[in-house]
Parts: sequence; C-alpha cells; structure tokens
Amino acid sequence: MKITQADYVISAVGPAQYPTDGMPEIALAGRSNVGKSSFINKMLNRRNLVRTSEKPGKTQKLNYFMINGAFYFVDVPGYGYAKVSKKDKEAWGRMLEAYFAERDALSAVVHLVDLRHPPSKEDIQMHEFLTYYGHPVITVATKADKISKSKYQKHKQIIIHDLGLKADDALILFSSLNGTGKEDAWRALDPFLH
Ligand code: GTP
Ligand code: MG
Repeated sequence: MKITQADYVISAVGPAQYPTDGMPEIALAGRSNVGKSSFINKMLNRRNLVRTSEKPGKTQKLNYFMINGAFYFVDVPGYGYAKVSKKDKEAWGRMLEAYFAERDALSAVVHLVDLRHPPSKEDIQMHEFLTYYGHPVITVATKADKISKSKYQKHKQIIIHDLGLKADDALILFSSLNGTGKEDAWRALDPFLH
C-alpha cells in the first residue's frame, strides 16, 4: 500500500462528531497498551502520527485519521485498564457500544491481541461483541518481536482456540517494532477500503 496522505481529522466522543463523508472506516480494538496506536503508525510508516505511550490508557476518544483521501483509521481507547474509575469505564462502554453497534461506515475492525499471552476474558468478550454486530474482524497478534519464532505456532493455536476463530478468519502475526506482518495486514484490509 502506497501511503500518499495520512492526516489527523477529529477526536470524537459520540455520533455528533463522526465524519459525514461516508468514507469506509477501519477501527482498532484491543486492550489498553496492546499496541493499537503503534499499529496505525507502523502501517502508515509514520513514527508519531498517533500518540503512543508506555502507560496504558493513552487513547481516550475515537481518533479519526484520513488515509489517501479514501478511508479512515479510527483509533479507539483500549479496554482492561485496571486504574480507570467505574464512572469512566461506563462512559467508555457507552461510547464504544454506540460506535460499534450503530456506525454504518464501519467497514472492518482490526482486533489486536498480544501474541505472548492467551487472550484475556475481555479479549474474548470483545471478539464476541464484534462478531455479534456482524463486523468483519481481522485479528492481529502483535508484539511478535517479543517471543522467539519457534513459539509462534503454539501461541497462534491458543489464540485461534480461545477466540474461536474459524479457518477463514484472518489472524495476522505483527510487530510494530520490526514490521512483521505489515504486508499481510494490508492484504487483509484491502477488501474493506473501498
Ligand atoms: P492505549 O491507547 O492505552 O489503548 O494503548 P495502545 O493499544 O494504543 O498501545 P500503544 O500503541 O500506545 O503501545 C503501548 C506500548 O507498547 C508502547 O510502549 C509501544 O512502544 C509498545 N508496543 C506496541 N506495539 C509493539 C510491538 O509490536 N512490539 C514491541 N516490542 N512493543 C510494542
Ligand atoms: Mg492508543
């Protein structure tokens, strides 16, 4: 994928701020700190377009990025961050529910999980939630640079089993550090960008 344009557009907290141009949207889902913002940067060859952080909870709104004048990446706040208050968690839940349940422009969801660990309860719930709403889900197992290649197959099988992925469900091994899986991810996304 040749990236000719990648621009921050808006941080939305609800439908009133969503873009109205009808361009397809690719949303990122996954636990806090799994690497959603880093994924977008790597895919776009941009170091700092999307702010990342070692501390979880960096992304707090639906951040829209227009790519090549053709589609959006939507960076979504992560789940599973223990230090968030109950009130904030509920607000997050409402914002995400409204987005994933009602957004017609949403074309596909990239669900990031950590290749090193079995999916968490929340990872499994998120996968069920997304498929319940009928969204195409591309599962990306990231931080692949952090384990040895000899463990890839075993860890992949655990993710497939725990999330209940079917034979034709996409599962891509990825690293935002070294670019592993980048071309595979673009290939998986391609049908949803038009
Ligand atoms: P929230 O915005 O809090 O939901 O987090 P996020 O999912 O956007 O995570 P972010 O991209 O900010 O990355 C979190 C931390 O993980 C940062 O320190 C990144 O540098 C690191 N990280 C992300 N992806 C990778 C990866 O593939 N490999 C390695 N080694 N580190 C990664
Ligand atoms: Mg983020």
